This record gives sequence, C-alpha cells and structure tokens, in this order.
Amino acid sequence: MADLSIEFAGIKSPNPFWLASGPLTNTGYQISKAFDEGWGGAVWKTIGEPVINVSARLASLDYGGRRMMGLNNIELISDRPLDDNLREIAEVKRRFPHRAVIVSMMFESNPQIWAEMVKRVQDTGADGIELNFGCPHGMSERGMGSIIGQVPEYAQTITRYAAEGSSLPVIVKLTPNVTDVRPPGKAAIQGGADALSLINTINSVMGVDIDSWMPIPQVDGRGSHGGYCGPAVKPIALHMLSSLYNDRAVRVPLCGIGGIETWRDVVEFMLLGAEAVQVCTAAMHYGFRIVKDLTQGLNDYLDQRGIAQVNQIVGKAATRVGDWNDLRLSYSYQLVAHIHDDQCIGCNLCYVACEDGAHQCIDRVPGQKAPIVREADCVGCNLCSLVCPVPDCIEMVPVEHGVPETWRQRQERLTSFP
Ligand SMILES: Cc1cc2nc3c(=O)[nH]c(=O)nc-3n(C[C@H](O)[C@H](O)[C@H](O)COP(=O)(O)O)c2cc1C
Repeated sequence: MADLSIEFAGIKSPNPFWLASGPLTNTGYQISKAFDEGWGGAVWKTIGEPVINVSARLASLDYGGRRMMGLNNIELISDRPLDDNLREIAEVKRRFPHRAVIVSMMFESNPQIWAEMVKRVQDTGADGIELNFGCPHGMSERGMGSIIGQVPEYAQTITRYAAEGSSLPVIVKLTPNVTDVRPPGKAAIQGGADALSLINTINSVMGVDIDSWMPIPQVDGRGSHGGYCGPAVKPIALHMLSSLYNDRAVRVPLCGIGGIETWRDVVEFMLLGAEAVQVCTAAMHYGFRIVKDLTQGLNDYLDQRGIAQVNQIVGKAATRVGDWNDLRLSYSYQLVAHIHDDQCIGCNLCYVACEDGAHQCIDRVPGQKAPIVREADCVGCNLCSLVCPVPDCIEMVPVEHGVPETWRQRQERLTSFP
C-alpha cells in the first residue's frame, strides 16, 4: 500500500484529505465523527466575532438529473460563541493528536485583535491557522473575507498581523473573485504566509423562481449574492491552482479546494500542484463516509503505478498547463474525428453539433447508421466527441505532424526573417 501521509507546511496528516471550513466542521462532535471515519484533517468553521445567520442559507444548481452540481450559500462565519469553539478545538486535538486540526479565522483589521486571537488559538493545541480572505458575501460588506483577498496590500497586511505573533503555520485561503489569483497569493506570502489554500466560493446569484419572481434562496422575500462551490467550480479551482504552482515566486505548499468529489479529482488537484486537498460540498452531499472511497481509490491509483509516496505525484502535470502561445498551431499538429461505425447508435447528435456549432464536416449517408467525417475539412475541435452519448465511439486521431511550431515560435521566425 502506498504511503498517503503528508507533511503540509510542517503540519502532519495521515492522508491528504481534509474537510474544508464550513457547516461540516462547525463542532467538535462533527470533526470527531469525521476523524473516526478516516479524514486526515479538518479546517474548523471560520471563527470570529460570532455572527447571526439567516434562514434559508443554501440553494443548488441541479443539472440533467444531477443534484447539487453547484451549491450556493449565504451563510456567514461561525455563529457559535468563541469560547465554545476554542474549548472544542482543544478537546478534538487532545482526542486526535495525529490528525491535522486547522482553525479558520476572520477578524476585523486590527493588529491587537489578531495577536490576541492567534494566541488563544495556539493555546488550544491546534496545528495551524487558516486565514479566511475568501467569503464573498456578508462578511465582505463588513470589511472582511474576500474584500481582503481582493486587494494584495490588505492581504499582506492582515497576514502579517496574524503571522507576526504565530508559532503555528499560517495558511492563507484565497478568493477566486479576482482576475488573477497570483498577486494576492504572493502578497500573502510576503506578509508571512507559510502556505496557500484555494479556492473559496465564487460570487453568484443562484436564480429566480419564474412563477413567484422570488430570488433563490430567499429570506422572507429577499435574496442576496452568495458563494458558489461544488463540482461546477472545479475547472476554475484547477486553473487558479496551476497558475500559482507555475509561478516561480510561489514557493510555499498549496492546498487545493473546489469541487472535489472523487479520488480522481484528488489526483488531478495533486498533479497540478496541491500537496493536500479540502472537501466541502461533496461531504455535505454524501457524508463523511466518502473518505473511504477517496482513500481506497488514491491507494489503488498509486499502487498500480508503483508510486510509493503520495507526494511523488504533486505538480507532475502542472508544467504542461501554460500559455496558449506555447501550443502547437494546427498546421503543425492536427487531429480529426474518427467515428467507430460498430459503436454508433445513429443518434446524429455529432452531425447536428458539427453542422450548426462547428465546421460542417460530418455528412449523413442514406441507408447508413453512422455518419462520416470529411477528414479534409475537420479541424479536430472535439465537439462531436463531446456530444456523442457513447463513450469512445468518436475518437480524435492525430493525422498530421508538421514541423512543430507554436504561435510564439512563429512570431520569432517571422520577425527574424523580415
Ligand atoms: C455552506 C457553506 C459554508 C461555508 N463556510 C465557510 C467558512 O466559514 N469559511 C471558509 O473559509 N469557507 C467556507 N466555505 C467554503 C468552503 O470551505 C470551500 O472553500 C468551498 O465550498 C469550495 O469547496 P467545495 O467545492 O468542495 O465545496 C463554505 C462553503 C459552504 C458550502
């Protein structure tokens, strides 16, 4: 069996699976139960000056029969008394000395308050703190959360407030509600962050009931923007993660969050640079027990490849994700669609998609179930294979390999031979 244990910014954990700060990590009862089920770590629901919440707090995007493809929340940070949270953090850490207990924190921008609160969290015996610079709703209107994560100077300053008095590793949790996540990430590192985690939720309005004209979710007839997460946000998280990992100025461990549901998702996040991952929506949807599948799946994946330690896969695909200008241009590398007649069910979805949404290079043949691809006209865009309901029925096959050339190389060639 592969070794799944990690050491993330000095925090030891028996596996890379941590619960993300949220309703799952609100109490000692929940985190103890999650640890009993096998989670390696948990980030406590953000503590701060206790808030008052609203009801309802959640809404979901269901898609094609799939519940909770995306989840939106207008919940704030912990509404429990600070002393209760701190007491339970200490109890959990005593009971589970070998699991990672991280405390998410959010306070007003006052150095004395940060110094005092960091000290109180340290006294619980927790393993690390995570600064919540991410929540896009409610707290941001009060000068906290994503309003800090969106302005690099603020991110640097508040990180410094927390890091100066902290003997614990400081993880800064970044907001995706920015054009480029690198400047706030690097600012946090300059402020003293030992690690970064991302992403928090994406600012969103979930929808409107078209009969009542009420926003979704609604609080007695009114709605508000909230934070979006769940499987739908995974591509955004992967992009932001890889952009940080590939930035030479970012030399701290990264913790990947956003839409993780299966062990395959975990592998993808790790291949793009995450040393640990956090899960929220999937565990809210299916329960703490999903960690068993994550563990088994990741173990099997590593064993099948003869990889002894999970950290050996970290970042292994990241350098392959880069600038568009470094991709080979289509005269230098060309795919065409190949339809496997024996698997085709004759639904014609590929024909319709290509005809209306792509390059009109698929023809129907009278009396024949499978359409045919006019290879000379196919640009290899992938659309037909994406709409085809039969897995592997349409294969994208490389047909031309010219002299390798990217846009960047082309520009260099053209400018060096005027
Ligand atoms: C209902 C709810 C409450 C959340 N509360 C917090 C919070 O208190 N602090 C925090 O840093 N993130 C909070 N989050 C964000 C999650 O920790 C996580 O970053 C986000 O949901 C993306 O992960 P996921 O796609 O696995 O859910 C919350 C998310 C949800 C759904």
